[in-house]
Amino acid sequence: MKVKIHTLFQYLLETTQSKPEAIVGFSLSQSPRLGDFLEELDPDLPLDWNNQNFSGLPELKGHVLRQAGLNGICAPKDVLITAGAAEANYLAIMQMLQPDDEIVLETPGWPQAEVLAKAIGAKVIKVTRVEADNWRLPLDQMAEAITPRTKMIFLSNPNNPTGDVLDETELREIVRMADRVGAWLLVDEVYAGLEWDGPRAPSVAGMYARGITTGSVSKALGMQGLRTGWIICPDAGLIHDAVILRENSSEIMNIMGEVIAEIALRPERYEQAMEKARREGSANLAQMNKWLAAQDELSWISPRAGLIGLGRLPDGIDSGPFARFLLGDPYRTFLLPGSAYDQPQHIRLGVGGGAGVNLEKGLSRLAQGLRDYPRS
Ligand SMILES: Cc1ncc(COP(=O)(O)O)c(C=O)c1O
Repeated sequence: MKVKIHTLFQYLLETTQSKPEAIVGFSLSQSPRLGDFLEELDPDLPLDWNNQNFSGLPELKGHVLRQAGLNGICAPKDVLITAGAAEANYLAIMQMLQPDDEIVLETPGWPQAEVLAKAIGAKVIKVTRVEADNWRLPLDQMAEAITPRTKMIFLSNPNNPTGDVLDETELREIVRMADRVGAWLLVDEVYAGLEWDGPRAPSVAGMYARGITTGSVSKALGMQGLRTGWIICPDAGLIHDAVILRENSSEIMNIMGEVIAEIALRPERYEQAMEKARREGSANLAQMNKWLAAQDELSWISPRAGLIGLGRLPDGIDSGPFARFLLGDPYRTFLLPGSAYDQPQHIRLGVGGGAGVNLEKGLSRLAQGLRDYPRS
């Protein structure tokens, strides 16, 4: 088994040293600073892992359940603290999927599951979200794709990269489809809590015995560098298998990540941080929508949740070369090409970064880049 590089990561690797002057693709809220936590940190905290729980700090697991609305529905034993939602997905997929198993994925979607499934030798079945249907997940096609051969279904809700959201009724329908064939249903909720036009969808870990919820402090709370996330699943075997795989990679969660995440998720602090994230995210989104409404050459389906969406380029412009053109002089503006999601006619636009982000600068450079870009 060898994990192959995905175009999204390839682009990030190639461009990390490019030092852009503007970014039109911030995918997370403005990040807090370490200093924001100092008062609550205990200087006598031993930086050892002795006496630590292999599945995470008990208080942190309690906060994780509360923010997911799973208090009293799932138990702390159903939670495993991980190095971000990325590790959470990794542990669940690598342990549950075997060669020749089928996994049903959405496209466009978060590429991690496909990369890992291919490395395992599993068969990938894709269900396509189309822009003309507002990037909605076609449930009739999901029903066709899920068969007795399906071992796992992987979705992100809210969806990365379109910002579409599955509501409770839709999720219940997908749970029924999964249950009919006994498939694992993994829903990555890394963007949950930033819904712009409706309530937060319920977490599948509370809806289905084989429901797996993954999430983290990375996006809405802007703490991606902390590398702290979680898996929630009522199946004790899955949590145990995840702990076993993790023991053979990073062994245990990092204590600083857990301690700081525990502070960040304390109810009052969490409410305040989420209120700020929602206020600033919706202000940036309003600015982006206003700007896009005035553009002849660019349009998007405004994300219903989260901080990213796909902007549609005019015919004849391929997002890969265009993103590189925009990163060069004189624009020096970073955004992700939609080709990272098999959407070569789109670019990924982000409204993260909070109040401090200078969206205007990036957007005016993007407009200039579009005017200057040589057309075929
Ligand atoms: C859908 C989705 N899942 C997982 C991740 C990884 O997040 P984390 O920093 O929690 O590992 C991201 C980050 O971009 C994401 O968008």
